[in-house]
Amino acid sequence: MVTYCGDEVASLVLDVGGSWTRVGYSGDDAPKCVVPTYVGCLDSTGDETNAKTIRDQDQDVDMTDATKQSEEVPEDSSAAAKPSKPKRYIGDTEISAVRPGMTLKSPLQDKIVQDWDLFEDVWSYCLHNRLRVNPKENPLFITEASWNVPAAREKLIELAFEKFESPAFYICKDAVLAAFAAGKSNALVLDCGGSTTSAVPVYDGYALKKGQLYQNIAGDFVSDQILAQIRRDYNLEVRSRYQVLKKNPVDVGQPANAVLRDFPSGKFTPSYHHYMQMQVIQEYKESVCQISESTYNENYLAARPQKPFEFPDGFNLQVGIERFRVPEVLFQPNQFITDKSKPVRQNGQVMDVSGMTPGPAVEGATTQTPSTSFNMWGVPQMIHNSINSCDIDLRPHLLTNVVLTGGSTLFPGFADRVNFELQSLAAGQRIKIHAPGNSIERKYGTWIGGSILSSLGSFHQLWISRQEYQESGAAIVNKKCQ
Ligand SMILES: Nc1ncnc2c1ncn2[C@@H]1O[C@H](COP(=O)(O)OP(=O)(O)OP(=O)(O)O)[C@@H](O)[C@H]1O
Ligand SMILES: [Mg+2]
Repeated sequence: MVTYCGDEVASLVLDVGGSWTRVGYSGDDAPKCVVPTYVGCLDSTGDETNAKTIRDQDQDVDMTDATKQSEEVPEDSSAAAKPSKPKRYIGDTEISAVRPGMTLKSPLQDKIVQDWDLFEDVWSYCLHNRLRVNPKENPLFITEASWNVPAAREKLIELAFEKFESPAFYICKDAVLAAFAAGKSNALVLDCGGSTTSAVPVYDGYALKKGQLYQNIAGDFVSDQILAQIRRDYNLEVRSRYQVLKKNPVDVGQPANAVLRDFPSGKFTPSYHHYMQMQVIQEYKESVCQISESTYNENYLAARPQKPFEFPDGFNLQVGIERFRVPEVLFQPNQFITDKSKPVRQNGQVMDVSGMTPGPAVEGATTQTPSTSFNMWGVPQMIHNSINSCDIDLRPHLLTNVVLTGGSTLFPGFADRVNFELQSLAAGQRIKIHAPGNSIERKYGTWIGGSILSSLGSFHQLWISRQEYQESGAAIVNKKCQ
């Protein structure tokens, strides 16, 4: 609870990530709800009748009723009120529902809002449908990427005050909050999430622009590489739960013997199918994948125990070296990008991976011009390059306060490997890695930092009040929130 204008009110903390959006009350240990950041869009030609038919024929589909209206973006939300708008579905069960023609879209790219309509829908859904609060009553604390741009920040404050009628607003850089959650005001924050891996130096509670590095070789990229590897090595497409009616046991490595649902081809969009495949790959990553704790050596790693994994259609494997090889792309992207079909971006710049010509790292680039000469950063190089871009006096403080956050740092071995590689990159210097053992703290570090900061007694003077916004306009956000 915070005191705002003399009243005790709980402020809301909203952390919209590329994969997951976390929302809850300031002062809590963890977010109240975590919702996929994807929005299911069904345009007016979308076939709800067919969705129903498929369900009626197939009663045991273990999915949400696709015609259930309650989890749609509420009618009274301004976004849903526009008549010409396609139907939108938000929330895990809604976007996983068997719904022909539904396209899944993310409002963000590289953690910067690209589609404001969708972003507003996610925001509205979290507050109205999940927390069930009236946003008029609670100050809103929102997180942003450290490289967010002033125009987008102004749009965010506008949304908060004009659309959601928040009584007060604050926006804070995610790296600062992750450092804060680790109890540090000086840190090098390495965030390896779903859409993006970034290294951001934080000094005295401020994210330094110099040294900010980010690229989209992160969790989703690893998942795509796993899908491609399975396709390549076993000549099969990973089936999702919605496709399988009944699976029968088969021997390890043998083709699946499953009864599949008879969906007409083309009923489901590639984005829906891909999202559903990613759910399977998420389990695969959690169950079998690992990062080599020291130098990647296949001879040595091949002797490590294999791990079993069964796909939804019953196809099952004992996963050997691949469980190390594929996630190694996070540490040695130049050597381990095998599927070159996905766009690779570095500090916002689209890289041409087809040639894979190693070249100098591009820092601070913001244009979308393809580059042919590049050098993607592995996680340790990112940390090292980022620290080395900072003032020489600051470097030792950063090296002894490397904070790991984001879901993809949960691969076993990740923290040990970062430590191992930094020992040689910064030989002779003291290095300390802060990686909470608790997965909640690792996954929700940014949200938790926001929850702590916004509940501090001394924080109340930092809120931008509605009155200040009305007097100074949206530009106040760039003055008051550094
Ligand atoms: N136990 C785990 N092992 C490996 N990867 C995991 C684990 N748990 C989650 N992940 C991965 O973490 C990623 C999501 O991380 P996170 O929640 O930090 O992302 P986000 O904040 O939504 O995205 P971003 O920060 O990129 O905008 C997904 O790619 C997911 O597969
Ligand atoms: Mg994140």
